[in-house]
Amino acid sequence: MQVGELVAVPTETVYGLAGRYDDLNAIQKIYQTKNRPSYDPLILHIHSHSQLKELISRDTSDLEKMLIQEFWPGPLTFIFERSENVSDLITSKLPTVAIRMPRHPIFLDLLEKINIPLAAPSANPFKYISPTSAQHVAKQLGGKIPMILDGGNCEVGLESTIIKVHDEKIVVLRQGLVSIERLSQFAETSLVKSDQTIEAPGMLDAHYSPVKPFIKIKDADTLKGKSLGLIMFSEYHPDFPIENQIVMSPEKDLKIAAMRLYGAMREMDMSNFEGILIDEFPNEEMGRAINDRIKRALTRI
Ligand code: TXA
Ligand code: MG
Repeated sequence: MQVGELVAVPTETVYGLAGRYDDLNAIQKIYQTKNRPSYDPLILHIHSHSQLKELISRDTSDLEKMLIQEFWPGPLTFIFERSENVSDLITSKLPTVAIRMPRHPIFLDLLEKINIPLAAPSANPFKYISPTSAQHVAKQLGGKIPMILDGGNCEVGLESTIIKVHDEKIVVLRQGLVSIERLSQFAETSLVKSDQTIEAPGMLDAHYSPVKPFIKIKDADTLKGKSLGLIMFSEYHPDFPIENQIVMSPEKDLKIAAMRLYGAMREMDMSNFEGILIDEFPNEEMGRAINDRIKRALTRI
């Protein structure tokens, strides 16, 4: 493989499209390959605390240290003030940078061997559903990138929680496995509101959408007469044929449902159904992140 190339990598959340953070050609290639607008900044991935020091401009606060200790390596991304080592291209000119230490063994091993932080957004074309298997990546970006590291199915299945620590309080910019309930055990935690300053334009746009109409079951009438596939939480819907349905977790486990969600959305999107109906999920713990992704993916009707 040539120097400066990209590689798709497995992480515990979703697959990433990785390039060296210090190679601006590689960073450009990430944006081009994903068809991602330059205003949507990238996350850096690291394997050590000394790498973190190089990328940020001030020491971490006590609360940040505590959260890092608890959740790294793992699916929690921090927004820090960036150092001069991080280029404008990575942060879309923001004074901050998003950083996380992933826990997938193959990716961590790669980060250790290279010993250079890697920029890696989710390995999907802009606005499509994030990939949770190497096959998902191959299907969409296969012809465009020289290598995909196959690390199996992602164990979490939804993108990392993104937070910013301010005045010893936590603001959640994107929900994920590390839930608001869990973070609240460390400090006052709030969810960023859409009417607050937009920290990163990409986060408020519609995202993760299937191509087919994707709507809640309660709005099924708007697709009357069409053949419909259903994504159900824990049991089959009695009014639709069983063969049209995917049940995510008969045991009502929200983590399992999250792990399967994007795969089910893709499967339905590739099927012969003309539209996709999605169930309601309890709005607690991982259910909040599931509902957040569903809300962003819904077809506006
Ligand atoms: O789980 C994940 O985080 C995956 C895996 C590959 O690590 N990565 C991922 O990256 O989801 P991406 O690029 O698809 O999503 C990163 C989000 C974007 O919405 C971006 O706008 C936001 O993070 N972001 C990046 N830098 C930021 C910053 N400095 N301030 C606020 N938001 C930022
Ligand atoms: Mg993404």
